[in-house]
Parts: sequence; C-alpha cells; structure tokens
Amino acid sequence: MNIERELARHGKLVDREINRVISENFPKNLYEPIKYHLGAGGKRIRPALCLLSCEAVGGKVKNVLPIATAIEMIHGFSLIHDDIEDRDELRRGNPTVWKVWGEALAINAGDGLFTKAFESAANLKGKNSNEALKIFARAVLEVCEGQALDISFEKSDAVTEKDYLEMTSRKTGALMEAACKTGALIGGGSKKEVNALANYGRKIGIAFQIWDDYIDFASEKTGKTFGLDIKKGKKTFIVCHALARIKGEDRARLFEILKAPVYETTDEMVREAVEILNNSGSIDYANEYAQKLVNEAKAELKVLKNTKAKQTLLEFADFVVRREY
Ligand code: IPE
Ligand code: IPE
Ligand code: MG
Ligand code: MG
Ligand code: MG
Repeated sequence: MNIERELARHGKLVDREINRVISENFPKNLYEPIKYHLGAGGKRIRPALCLLSCEAVGGKVKNVLPIATAIEMIHGFSLIHDDIEDRDELRRGNPTVWKVWGEALAINAGDGLFTKAFESAANLKGKNSNEALKIFARAVLEVCEGQALDISFEKSDAVTEKDYLEMTSRKTGALMEAACKTGALIGGGSKKEVNALANYGRKIGIAFQIWDDYIDFASEKTGKTFGLDIKKGKKTFIVCHALARIKGEDRARLFEILKAPVYETTDEMVREAVEILNNSGSIDYANEYAQKLVNEAKAELKVLKNTKAKQTLLEFADFVVRREY
C-alpha cells in the first residue's frame, strides 16, 4: 500500500469540503491568507485519520466529513499562529502567512479559520454529535495548552523528558486523538473500539512530534527552516535527554548554541549541536522511543475487525516515523 496515495485520496474529499465551507471572499485580506495557507499543500493527516477511524468501525465517511474538515481547519489555524509564535518564515516550502501579510492579519486569519472550523463541526448530525463536538473543543484547548508549555520551555534549562511528553501530548497528541475518537464515535463504533482508536491517535501524535523534531534538522524535504528548533532553543525530546546526561564542555557548548539569539545561530552551529546530540546517544534514544509508541499504537488496534481501513491505519503508524516531510 502506498500511504501517500491513501492520504491524497482522503485529502481530496476534505479539500472539496473545505472549498465548499469557505465560500466567502470579502474582505480579501482575511480570505486570501486563509486560502493561501489551506491551498499550500499539507499532508491532510488528521482528517484522513478521522475518515479511516470511521471506516474502521463500519461507519459512513460522509457522516464524519464535517468534523474531519473542522479538524484540518483547526490544524491550519494552529499552524498560522504557531509560525508567528516560532518566528518561522517558511512552511511547506512557501513564506508563512505572517511573512506575506504581516502579523496582525495573520493573527486575524488564524482567528477566522478557527471560527470556520467550529462552523463546520456544528454541521455534524446524529446521535453522538454533541459528544463529538465536546471532544473536539477540548482537543483545541489542549493544543493551546501545549503551545503555552512549548513556549515557556524555550527559556527553561530544566525541562525533563516527562515535561516534554506532557507538552507534546497536548500540542500534537490531542488533535490526532480527537480525529480518531470522533471518527470512531460518529462512525458508530463500540466503546472498546472508540477507546482503542483514541489511544492509537494520542500515541501516534506524540511519536509524530518526536519525529518532527528530528527531521527539523535531519531532512531537507520538510519545507521548513533548517534547524529552527535548535536555533530557537526548543526543548525537544532529544534535547531533554541530552541535558539530563551530558556534562562538561559539550554541555556548555550545547547550552551556548541553544541560548544564542535565533538570527545569530548559524547552520554550522546547528550541525555542531547535532553532533553533540548524536554523540550523547540522544537522537537514537528519541527515535527508538517514537518507534516504541508506534508499536503500542498499532497494538491498540487489535480490537478492530480486519478491514482495509485498519490495514491503512497500521501502515500509517509506521509512516509517522519514516516520513521525511
Ligand atoms: C505540522 O504538522 C505540525 C506538527 C504537529 C509537527 P503536519 O506535518 O501534519 O503539517 P502539514 O499540514 O502536513 O503541513
Ligand atoms: C507543532 O509544533 C505545532 C502545533 C501543534 C501547532 P512545531 O512548532 O514543531 O510545528 P512546525 O515544525 O512548525 O510545523
Ligand atoms: Mg513551529
Ligand atoms: Mg511550535
Ligand atoms: Mg517542528
């Protein structure tokens, strides 16, 4: 199975719905940045998880489309704001919304997209709609909680692996969990199936972020700024592991690089930090941890019947720690 092709197939459904839901064009300086961001690609992973979870419990995809679409729009809102928060100038190979339209309009575009997401979610019909809506709203709040922790960790030297996991569970795990959980719930899954898919989503979400932090410096295909996490002093899982272990000169130099102002941290300094992180075994450790989460996530799916959707979810879990973008 080609997982990219599977993502594109589900992505098409969601894109059609996004275009239908966002029909407005005026004022241009609100809708242009929104459409620019949504139109610039993106893997559409979260809505695909929602649709697949629905299919995996025998539900009809068209019933979950409003919430799958809402989840992708919330993801979009979070990225537009995240790029302001992270001072990131590049996303999906293009200048970020705030770089093109300025911060004020980027904040506003994020707010517009946030609202559109809830409008779409409100189109859910049927018996578990209200519960799904509550799960969705709670996940959006968790994303904001996670972002708050992530930002506060930039200035802290004492972030532990446990702190990182708590932050990441919120900023990335929550929305993936909500995608799977609402998909299964609206799809009519049993309590056991809904729980299993929720756990699967949370676990692959955390693994997804650990891997995202790795490819931040290890892949040339992310379409994002090389090594920005290190330049910003982000406390990634890799960095948390290293800070608890390394001593002496390496420790001092790693801190120096992490703490240097973003625009003074050269790519060469990033490579130096990566070498320190590699020598401390922290990169291998983090990637093994992500793989462990993926294995646990896959084990959760044992309770599901054997379907093509289940098979896709299993393969998708592996893709999370293999992807280069
Ligand atoms: C990026 O998510 C944000 C993280 C949680 C790391 P994706 O990698 O799913 O972003 P797009 O939508 O495919 O660009
Ligand atoms: C994830 O973190 C962002 C959100 C959950 C909104 P990152 O800051 O690592 O995401 P990228 O790397 O900018 O996509
Ligand atoms: Mg970012
Ligand atoms: Mg961020
Ligand atoms: Mg990142």
